Amino acid sequence: MQLPNWLVTGGAGFIGSNFVRSVRRAGCARIINLDKLTYAGHLENLADLADDRDHVFVRGDIGDATLIDSLLREHQPAAIVNFAAESHVDRSITGPQEFIQTNVVGTHTLLQCALSYWKSLGGGRAAGFRFLHVSTDEVYGSLGPHDPPFTEDSQYRPNSPYAASKAAADHLVRAYHQTFGLATLTTNCSNNYGPYQHPEKLIPLMIENGRSGRPLPVYGDGRQVRDWLYVQDHCDALRLVLERGRAGETYNIGGDCECANLDIVSSLCRLLDDMYPKDAPHAKLIAHVADRPGHDRRYAIDASKMRRELGWHPRTGFDDGLACTLRWYAEHADWVAAVSTGAHERWIEANYVRRGPAAVNGGIK
Ligand code: NAD
Ligand code: TYD
Repeated sequence: MQLPNWLVTGGAGFIGSNFVRSVRRAGCARIINLDKLTYAGHLENLADLADDRDHVFVRGDIGDATLIDSLLREHQPAAIVNFAAESHVDRSITGPQEFIQTNVVGTHTLLQCALSYWKSLGGGRAAGFRFLHVSTDEVYGSLGPHDPPFTEDSQYRPNSPYAASKAAADHLVRAYHQTFGLATLTTNCSNNYGPYQHPEKLIPLMIENGRSGRPLPVYGDGRQVRDWLYVQDHCDALRLVLERGRAGETYNIGGDCECANLDIVSSLCRLLDDMYPKDAPHAKLIAHVADRPGHDRRYAIDASKMRRELGWHPRTGFDDGLACTLRWYAEHADWVAAVSTGAHERWIEANYVRRGPAAVNGGIK
């Protein structure tokens, strides 16, 4: 039986590469992987697929309509899965333009190309075509400590340029369904963690700094709460949505695992103490630094629609997932070195070295 082709964008990044790997392992589709290879995208993330003839990598931009049109014509995909994005909130504060370009303009270009491709398809193939847009819980803004978790009906209140750009893209995806009938699906997921996450994000940054005895920079008082989901659980959810989700719907995906940043860093310190006892206690490295402007205080996800309609639930507990993730980084020093070159070092310099200490509880700590 011939495998369907899926066009995956951003498949050399963190979640995209995990998704592509899990689809190829399951053998359920042939993947055309389009990625611009920005500072966040790395072929090292796909090294184990180098000999896989059903994984075709193409370097390019989702904003390049000519390229997208020709990929769609050539490969005739049954689905498009859009991971491609600028994804780091702190970078969206120092340089929002790239976020508008890729997350909004790029996604819109992809939608335009998808629409004209879909219109060119015949009956059965047109009916089966899906456009899955991978988005974030950050579009919903910040919750108070006692607010119920975000549902698919929560109001959009994005607070960072990153969240605003993803919100704009979500609206365009919705509009292409409502106006043109394109069979779109949107997922809004909470914070992911696991193998291949770029070391600019909280968990890998703390692991790598902790392993090398550098400070662990906690923004503000560290009591900001995020919901955390192991990346493989997210990938499983995305496959279910793609294969069984209802066109035009949105699905919230989360780990049912709210945790304050400082508690995560403390847990990692304890795991690091076990792994490297001679450097214990790693908690001495914790350094409160100036807070992120517009920093959302709390995210939480109500994923009951995913459970009810698609039978999905997260399988990986946070303690196990965190321990696995630490082990993965400890065993993949070469990967960390490969993705931490020039651009990453310049970012660390820009984001942390010039950052002052935090004002915590009214005082400087
Ligand atoms: P990432 O930054 O690790 O990867 C993004 C990938 O997109 C990179 O490989 C990059 O090279 C590629 N890319 C960027 N601009 C591009 C362009 N113009 N054309 C083609 N490729 C381009 O991000 P991630 O953490 O893997 O997130 C993937 C998606 O999931 C994003 O859309 C993000 O908003 C969403 N998401 C992420 C999380 C999370 O916790 N990481 C949570 C929910 C949703
Ligand atoms: P991050 O991994 O950047 O994800 P997001 O901002 O998309 O949720 O950050 C997760 C949380 O960790 C967020 O509240 C900001 C905080 N944080 C720190 O305290 N220190 C850091 O060095 C980083 C990168 C993040």
